Amino acid sequence: MTVQLRRDDLHASVSDPESASMNFLNEVAARFPDAISLAAGRPYDGFHSTDDLERYLRGYLAHLEALGLDDEQRQRRLLQYGRTNGYLGALIARMLLVDEGIEVPEQAVMVTSGCQEAMVIALRGLCARPGDVVLAVEPCYVGLTGAARLLGVEVVPVPESADGLDPDTVPAVAAAVRASGRRPRALYLVPNFANPSGASMPVAARRRLLDVAAEQDLLILEDDPYGLFGLGDEPRPTLKALDTGQRVLYLGSFAKSCFPGARVGFLVADQTVVDAAGRRTLLADELSAVKSLLTVNTSPVAQAVVGGFLVEAGCSVRAAGKAKTAFYRGNLRALLAALETSFGDDARVRWNTPAGGFFAVLDVPLTVDEAMLETSGREYGVLWTPMSFFYAPGSGGGRRSIRLSCSALPPERVGEGVRRLAELVRDRAEPR
Ligand SMILES: Cc1ncc(COP(=O)(O)O)c(C=O)c1O
Repeated sequence: MTVQLRRDDLHASVSDPESASMNFLNEVAARFPDAISLAAGRPYDGFHSTDDLERYLRGYLAHLEALGLDDEQRQRRLLQYGRTNGYLGALIARMLLVDEGIEVPEQAVMVTSGCQEAMVIALRGLCARPGDVVLAVEPCYVGLTGAARLLGVEVVPVPESADGLDPDTVPAVAAAVRASGRRPRALYLVPNFANPSGASMPVAARRRLLDVAAEQDLLILEDDPYGLFGLGDEPRPTLKALDTGQRVLYLGSFAKSCFPGARVGFLVADQTVVDAAGRRTLLADELSAVKSLLTVNTSPVAQAVVGGFLVEAGCSVRAAGKAKTAFYRGNLRALLAALETSFGDDARVRWNTPAGGFFAVLDVPLTVDEAMLETSGREYGVLWTPMSFFYAPGSGGGRRSIRLSCSALPPERVGEGVRRLAELVRDRAEPR
């Protein structure tokens, strides 16, 4: 008799609604391989080549040699267990200064296995007691809500407006949390071209949010994987760049700027931690204890690849990534133009106009659930993501909204995808 485990006996994260939704999306995509996917939010394959790997590795090794590491030290650096917080602190700190005007010591940078691990580490480190909760913008990136559930940390939603998070909605949410005996530890948001909404916060709102966070004694978890991909060149200062009070933990990813398969991201935690004896340390150093038990250290081979990418870029991912920025701008413009062409005459359909990034949201006159997505793939040859996936389960949020992503498609496919979607909406619109 072989072992059979009851699914109910496994941790709730195994049947987590967010991962179930994402599994469903992957499964639908596999079943309808010829459908145009306006669901996939991954970067465009045309930017990635295995030819880059060797060049990046050689570039990083040359960089280490220039720093004075001998052959044996270089071998060890790539092939042995490594420093928990990683080796790219100096290059990343330089990149943050050059590209974002963020000034942080290299010791405050922890290299992580993707931004996803940075979220887990930040949540685990900050939420210490039962009743410690994280506030998060809603609709929310599922990586954050899923990570919180994995850790048993409650997420309290703060509804997003068309202009991203409205700072003045935060105090009431924080007060309600406190009134119930819980402690709001941090607020998670994506201020630039958010996933899933595409919304961005105006600069004045960013400044105001930092004031509100100080008033409310909240830390901010700023996630910024799309900041490079604005439609225009106007500066969008990150919260971390505006942060004079060390309120912000900055979560970074190389998935879009370099490539996702490297699984390299980072966490900036420059806050001071004081222990009972008055000894002062850096939050990044304290959090390394969490990281060491999760992944020991981020693969030094992967770090070397991303290190070579940074060296080649002269630590300016913005300057080196101009072709990517131009491509994603072109695709977002194509998406917005196609929406105007296909839905411009239909007053029942609305969409937002993101100022950059990979995503836009379409409001439609029908319920767009998993069954409708399946119909869409089978009968209309187009896939998309129900916005309900990004709201708290059972809240009813996002039932008539679709997340559209334009990052993974060749530009000429975007318009055809939207045209197919328009057919679905026309055929399936519910009577008013
Ligand atoms: C808002 C947001 N944060 C984090 C991530 C994950 O980044 P990484 O691949 O570095 O783990 C993504 C990926 O889609 C994302 O959209």
